Parts: sequence; structure tokens; C-alpha cells
Amino acid sequence: MKFVLASHNKGKLKEMAAILGELGIEVASLPEGAPEPEENGATFEENARIKAKAAADFTGLPAIADDSGLCVDELGGAPGIRSARYCEGTDADRNAFLLKNMEGIENRACKFVSVICCCFPDGQQLSARGECPGILAHGPTGDGGFGYDPIFYLPELGKTMAQLTPEEKNKISHRAKALAGFQKEWEKQHGT
Ligand code: IMP
Repeated sequence: MKFVLASHNKGKLKEMAAILGELGIEVASLPEGAPEPEENGATFEENARIKAKAAADFTGLPAIADDSGLCVDELGGAPGIRSARYCEGTDADRNAFLLKNMEGIENRACKFVSVICCCFPDGQQLSARGECPGILAHGPTGDGGFGYDPIFYLPELGKTMAQLTPEEKNKISHRAKALAGFQKEWEKQHGT
């Protein structure tokens, strides 16, 4: 069965296609003209479902969406579901804005969260969550990945997420964990 990847985010698309390919799942991108639904849910789960359902309705194919973000403990989980629109501008602007909001704060524990939802044309849904814990750095390092990767430090690797190769990131990321959970659930329901 072929799945449509319900995302317009190039960074995410690349990672999802690579991880799903490794899992033996065939994917197609969203066709031209596919709607970009308003992400007005209150949770990662709700927003992932909104995106997957819109793509499944539009294409008539099973569609997989990821809703993800960075949650910082001392900011009560912000930017969280608002990670992509935390402030106007580029990824670098959002990183700078977050670091400014964290100035003088010692506890820098944070985590990336990804929720994968797959919606089927017959209305069935399947979702899975993955989390990757880390520490918010004091400045950006590395030029791989996307989004908040340059300021997301992984103490056990001694590197930021942006210093990992795509293969390394795709082994440990929140998105990889959520997609592995999705695959496990899928196989439980449908066999391999
Ligand atoms: P979404 O498209 O509404 O799910 O927003 C996801 C946003 O969360 C991205 O635009 C990034 O800002 C952030 N994000 C999610 N996953 C990652 C990641 O793997 N690395 C860095 N930032 C991420």
C-alpha cells in the first residue's frame, strides 16, 4: 500500500521519506493543489489528525502527517505546538527568540515531540508519539537538519542535533521513534 506524506515542510518530508523507506513503506508526496488546513488543534495529536485527514480526503489515499515541536520545561512546554510560528521570520530568528526567552535560566531541559497520524479513506485512524530528550544550548552549532536542531544539544553524543548526519538523526529522533511506533501498530493490525 502506498501512503501520501501530508506535509509541505521540506525538512520533515526528507526525514519522513528516508525513515519510512528504511521501514519498507512506500510513500508519495502531496499532489499540487492539496489544501493546507488550519492547524487549530490544542495538541500535537489533534493537529496531526487535521493534516492527515485533509490529505486523505483530498487524495483518496491513506495519508501520514507529523505534527511536531520543541517543548522546553521551564517555559511550560512552549513553544510546543506553536514551534513553527513561535515568532515571525526564519528558523534562525525563532532560535534567537527562544534563546532570548531562556536568558539567565539554568534548567535547560527540553524535548522534541512528534506525533504521527495516519488517516485512511474509510475513516480509520492510527497514531503514535515519539519523544527525544535534550538540553537547550546557549547558542547555535552545526548546519544539518532544520528548525531548532542547531540549539538542541544531546549530552550523550556531545553534539547538537544539527551536527549529526541525516542517518544519525534518523536513528534517534522523535520522528523516527513515532514512525517506528506507527509501523509496529500497523503490523499488529494488518500483519507485515
Ligand atoms: P509543524 O509543521 O506545525 O508540525 O511544526 C513543526 C515545527 O517544529 C518545525 O517547523 C520546527 O520549528 C519544529 N521541529 C519539529 N521537528 C523538528 C526537528 O526534527 N528539528 C528541529 N525542529 C523541529
